Amino acid sequence: MTLTIHEADAHDIHDDAVKSYRDHGFIAVRNILSKEEADHFRQAALEVADKSKARTDSEIFKQVVNVWRDDEAMKALTLHNAIAKAAHRLAGIPLRLWHDQILIKRPKDSRPTEFHQDQPYWPHADGPDPISAWIALCDVPPERGCMSFIPGSHRRRDLQGQNLRDSRSLFTICPDLEWSPRVTLPLKAGDCTFHHGRCAHSATSNITQDPRVAHVVIYMPTTTTYSGKGHVVTDPLNLTPGSKLEGEMFPLVAG
Ligand code: SIN
Ligand code: NI
Repeated sequence: MTLTIHEADAHDIHDDAVKSYRDHGFIAVRNILSKEEADHFRQAALEVADKSKARTDSEIFKQVVNVWRDDEAMKALTLHNAIAKAAHRLAGIPLRLWHDQILIKRPKDSRPTEFHQDQPYWPHADGPDPISAWIALCDVPPERGCMSFIPGSHRRRDLQGQNLRDSRSLFTICPDLEWSPRVTLPLKAGDCTFHHGRCAHSATSNITQDPRVAHVVIYMPTTTTYSGKGHVVTDPLNLTPGSKLEGEMFPLVAG
């Protein structure tokens, strides 16, 4: 099998990069932020994560969801035009923001994020092709919580939600994926990867002396409806199953 993995230029995403994203379910886009922007947003993310009451903290990562609602600096990153434009070009459909999240792996002893797909966690119907931007706000070599992807795994629509803590979870329900190639993409501060909501991915542990600081912006197709399943973002909203996810919580970002 020949696996050709393209990378994309942040300001000029060529057709072969779009094809690579759609074939494999992920792509790296270099320098989507300048070094100055990455430094600025890293400081902002660390401050928000430090003071947030809504964060969850585990041995895998510290997670703060929907920071764009509360923090102007992070809002500028979540709604960053270059990132939304790239997501739209890759997905090829109009998109709304689903939610954002800061994910920080603490230095030295964090646990890996085990292989999983994202979409099974979400209360979504009718939104077949969500796309996430995973933005490196510091250098992320393989030793600092770096992402790996299983090419083509986004075509698996039939899998139950997987357990981030269990390295066997995905491969128990889908044994053939265990023997698929995995692509690890180290990123420099300001680079990002985009992945399809069903592309299986993992992140290594952070054994370095510095925190791994990433910000994830998740976009959904504008057709997406609420399935009724529980989720931290939708639980407070009293939505009716079958209704469209739209309005000010889910702004149109591109398309
Ligand atoms: C991580 O950054 O550790 C995991 C990110 C993801 O699952 O999307
Ligand atoms: Ni994930």
